[in-house]
Amino acid sequence: MKIQYNMQRLRRLRTSPAMRAIIAETSLSVNDLIYPLFVKPGKGIREEISSMKGQYRYSVDMLAGEIENIKKAGLKAVLLFGLAGHKDEMASESCLPDGAVQESIRLFKKLAPEIVVMTDVCVCGYTSHGHCGILKEGIIQNDESLVLLQKMALSHAEAGADVVAPSAMMDGQVAAIREALDKNGYSNTSIMGYSAKFFSACYGPFRDAADSAPQSGNRSSYQMDVANAQEALREIEIDEAEGADMVMVKPAVFYLDIIARAAAQSKLPIAAYNVSGEYAMIKAAAEKGWIDENKVMMEMLLSIKRAGAGLIITYFAKDAAHLLKD
Ligand code: PBG
Ligand code: ZN
Repeated sequence: MKIQYNMQRLRRLRTSPAMRAIIAETSLSVNDLIYPLFVKPGKGIREEISSMKGQYRYSVDMLAGEIENIKKAGLKAVLLFGLAGHKDEMASESCLPDGAVQESIRLFKKLAPEIVVMTDVCVCGYTSHGHCGILKEGIIQNDESLVLLQKMALSHAEAGADVVAPSAMMDGQVAAIREALDKNGYSNTSIMGYSAKFFSACYGPFRDAADSAPQSGNRSSYQMDVANAQEALREIEIDEAEGADMVMVKPAVFYLDIIARAAAQSKLPIAAYNVSGEYAMIKAAAEKGWIDENKVMMEMLLSIKRAGAGLIITYFAKDAAHLLKD
C-alpha cells in the first residue's frame, strides 16, 4: 500500500512504558485525594454501610484506628459527615460542641494534626424531615436556613476544622458562613463551596449511610437541574464572589463537562465529588466479576483529574493511595 509521506505516527510515543510515562499529560497523586468519613454518636460503633461496601460508620471512640489507616495511606485530607442521635425541625444536634463531628475534628487534630480536616456543612442528617434547611408549609426557607448553616460551620471551626464545606445549596450560604467565621475570629478557616451540586440520583447510597433522605418531596428546589451547564458556571462565579476558597462540582463522573468548564472559568482550586452512587456502581459490578475494580477505579480518578479537577473527594481514596504507592 502507498503511505502518505507526511503521515503522522502517533504510535511512536506509545512504544514503551517509560515513553508513555514521560508523555503522560495527567497524573494522579495521593495529594489529590480527599477521603469522606461518617461519624455518629454512641460508643463501640464500627458498622459497614450496606450500599457502600468497604465504607463504615464510626463512633468517635472507634475512630483512632481508622485515623492511623488514613495516615498510613499517606492521605492529606478527610471530609467528615455526621449522623444525628436525635433529629428535630431545627437540626439542633448539628451544632453541638460535643457532637460526633465536632469531637472527631478534635480527635484528628490530636492524633494527626498534619491532616487537613474538612467538614460537610448541611443539616439534612439532623432535621426530622431530612431536608437541607428549615421547612415551612412544604417550602425550604432560604434565609432562615442560613442561620443554621452559620451556627453549624462555626461549631466546626471552633472544634478545629481547617475547611468547612457547605452543601445545602442555599443561596448566599458561602457569604453567610464567611461572615460568621470572620466575626468570631476564624478568618483562617477556609470554605469549600459545593457550588455546582446537581439534583442527582447518584446520592442514594450516601443517604443510607448518613440517614439523610428527605421524608417527603425531594431536593429539586435547591439542588441544580441536571440539564444546566451555564447555571453551574454562575453558581461557581457567585461562590467565588462570596468568598469561597475552593469550589466543587458534584457528582464527578457524569459531570466531567462541568468540571472542564469550571476549570477553564475559575482560578480557584476545583474539587470534584466522586459520589456514593458512582462508588457503588463500580463496587457492585466488580463483585459480580464484570469489571476489574482497581483498573476501573484508577481510570475513573484519572479521568476526573484530566477533566480539570485538582482535588477529588472519593470513597476510593485509601485504595487508590495504596495503589499509587506500589
Ligand atoms: C448533604 C450531602 C449529600 C452528599 C454530600 N452531602 C447528600 C444529598 O445532598 O442528598 C452526597 C454525597 C454522596 O452521594 O456521596 N447535603
Ligand atoms: Zn443536605
